[in-house]
Amino acid sequence: MLHVDRITELRAACDDARAAGKQVGLVPTMGFLHAGHRSLMRSARVATDFVVVTIFVNPLQFGAGEDLDRYPRDLSGDLEACAAEGVDCVFTPAVAEMYPRRPLTTVHVEGLTADLCGAARPTHFDGVTTVVAKLFSITGPCRAFFGRKDAQQLAVVTRMAADLDLPVEVVGCPIVREPDGIAMSSRNAYLSEPDREAARVLSHALRRAVDAIVNGERDPAHVADLVRAVVATEPRVELEYAEVRDAAELTPMATLDGNVLVALAARVGTTRLIDNAFIQIDGAQVSADMGVADLGIEGGSPCNAR
Ligand code: PAJ
Repeated sequence: MLHVDRITELRAACDDARAAGKQVGLVPTMGFLHAGHRSLMRSARVATDFVVVTIFVNPLQFGAGEDLDRYPRDLSGDLEACAAEGVDCVFTPAVAEMYPRRPLTTVHVEGLTADLCGAARPTHFDGVTTVVAKLFSITGPCRAFFGRKDAQQLAVVTRMAADLDLPVEVVGCPIVREPDGIAMSSRNAYLSEPDREAARVLSHALRRAVDAIVNGERDPAHVADLVRAVVATEPRVELEYAEVRDAAELTPMATLDGNVLVALAARVGTTRLIDNAFIQIDGAQVSADMGVADLGIEGGSPCNAR
């Protein structure tokens, strides 16, 4: 496995791979890799020929007072995980490599970033789109794998790539959950044991919403209220938002139809967690995707990569 920390080295490795007829698969991460990240690597491994994982805690996407300084890191564990997943190249740039100067050019995706997580984190998505645009530019033509765990981020990055004609196919992959239903997240490491137990209420609330929709509920306000009511049963958890939206445009819907996203954010102690479920409604046919349980390292996870 190639391990590089210079932009020129990553660019050359990707150019060489494409020159050899390989398709490049990109998995951008901030490290402290868990089974959710590893499922993206596996999807990339299956669907592409030269798998690149980037590990970079991007200061631009953290607001003042957020957890940049204490964001968990484990480079040696991360490199082991990448090697175990058969990754071809890991890119671990220093901050000075990615941002030798304060960038005067940033990428802003209007509308999609205005609310949901954008409301509490007004500068967050510009930081994400700016670093992802840089990673796309350095990597060059590729398929890039993102988790549906960060549903708004997936919608924003997909729209950015389309609007700017970037030579990148953005692929969304299912949420990987702990056996007790909690969505895997590097930030779960912050949770005390009682907070971790309390956090289960988030996936329970989403499950309740999914069940209601499967049983015929089509009023988004009722579904959002259901989520709020379930989360309210857990005093350690403070809900920031529970919203029901069109999954691609993130716009509110009058009545549920097509691709629906039920998304929430909550604080558990000082930790901010997000979670969501996708539901596809086609007339009387409803299929729900809450993700997959982490059943260990065997097997791949389904993905919308062709
Ligand atoms: P990070 O939080 O490290 O996540 C990297 C990728 O892993 C994202 O696409 C995220 O959606 C995915 N992911 C995280 N938890 C997951 C889970 N439980 N199941 C499936 N996928 C999961 O997201 C970022 O980093 C950054 O914003 C980044 C895109 C790298 C830009 O800095």
